[in-house]
Amino acid sequence: TKPHHDQLEGELQQLLLSLPKDKWFGFPMHLYQGFWCVDPIFEGIIASQTHFNAQDTDIMLASLPKAGTTWLKSLIFTIINRKNISHISQHPLHSKNPHELIPHLEFKVYKESQQDVDEIPSPRLFATHIPYLALPESIKSSKCRIVYVCRNPLDNFVSACHFWLEFDRNKGIKLDTEMIEEHLDKYCKGVLPYGPYEDHLLGYWNESMKNPQKVLFLEFEGLKKDTKAHIIRLAEFLNCPFSEEEAKGDAIDEIIKLCSLKNLKEMEVNKSGRVNQWYENKAYFRKGEVGDWTNYLTLPMAKRVNEIQEKLENAGFSF
Ligand code: A3P
Repeated sequence: TKPHHDQLEGELQQLLLSLPKDKWFGFPMHLYQGFWCVDPIFEGIIASQTHFNAQDTDIMLASLPKAGTTWLKSLIFTIINRKNISHISQHPLHSKNPHELIPHLEFKVYKESQQDVDEIPSPRLFATHIPYLALPESIKSSKCRIVYVCRNPLDNFVSACHFWLEFDRNKGIKLDTEMIEEHLDKYCKGVLPYGPYEDHLLGYWNESMKNPQKVLFLEFEGLKKDTKAHIIRLAEFLNCPFSEEEAKGDAIDEIIKLCSLKNLKEMEVNKSGRVNQWYENKAYFRKGEVGDWTNYLTLPMAKRVNEIQEKLENAGFSF
């Protein structure tokens, strides 16, 4: 069921007044339950926390924005549905952007969409950027499984800078050093959408350590390095492992090819379409490389994330 919109609006305005605020590329954000929410998504976050009823068979993709969400959406959808699609040419990725195939809880399901999620056949596939601790309670208490993808902080930051300037309202603004400095400073202080970065990553990391059946923790860099091994692991975690026959044939290579950045970027739907009111589909596909930060940040600038790295290392995680 959907919350009553006007009532929620009123309560939300009251709540916002009481919270710390900041901005990210011109967007107002508020610090809520320990993480930074961009204002337009606030309502969807609260509505998902209040109304979402996870089922044991649900699959949830979790990530910070720009960590590889689009890639994982394509892979998860393709792995789960591979038996239902007769030929690759009929694949839904040819006509739909990956974000249409796996909707985000807080800005699709509980904000824009009118679809009743209880009607979706299982396994239901959703995505979220909400940190682990703030997830709707039923996601944590049910047997619903979570795939988390993270990305090294510097590439994640550079990707985010590009993305926020693709937002319609920011079109035409050029990414310059001053803007990078200003936002890198915020980033290192934890002031980024859904940040702090390290809290987000460690929330899911710690849970994956405690409960590996529940959370599969992936790294963008690892996926790039050995995509095949990661896809095999992902399929096992999703309870649809590749058969011996599939593994011997070219099924896995076909998935890798279909979901590659090069392939998705060239599809008409991603060149010209738009999946939401904020972005054109092409904004989701840029370079997808490891180490692109070196093209934008000097070494002294990059060193500013050392504190983030240290916090990760102290918790037993390193890239
Ligand atoms: P870059 O900006 O570094 O190119 P998200 O999907 O979480 O928004 O992350 C977007 C980043 O993933 C972008 O990184 C984008 O280019 C990259 N990306 C999108 N689709 C991809 C794919 N199929 N394979 C690899 N990287 C992909």
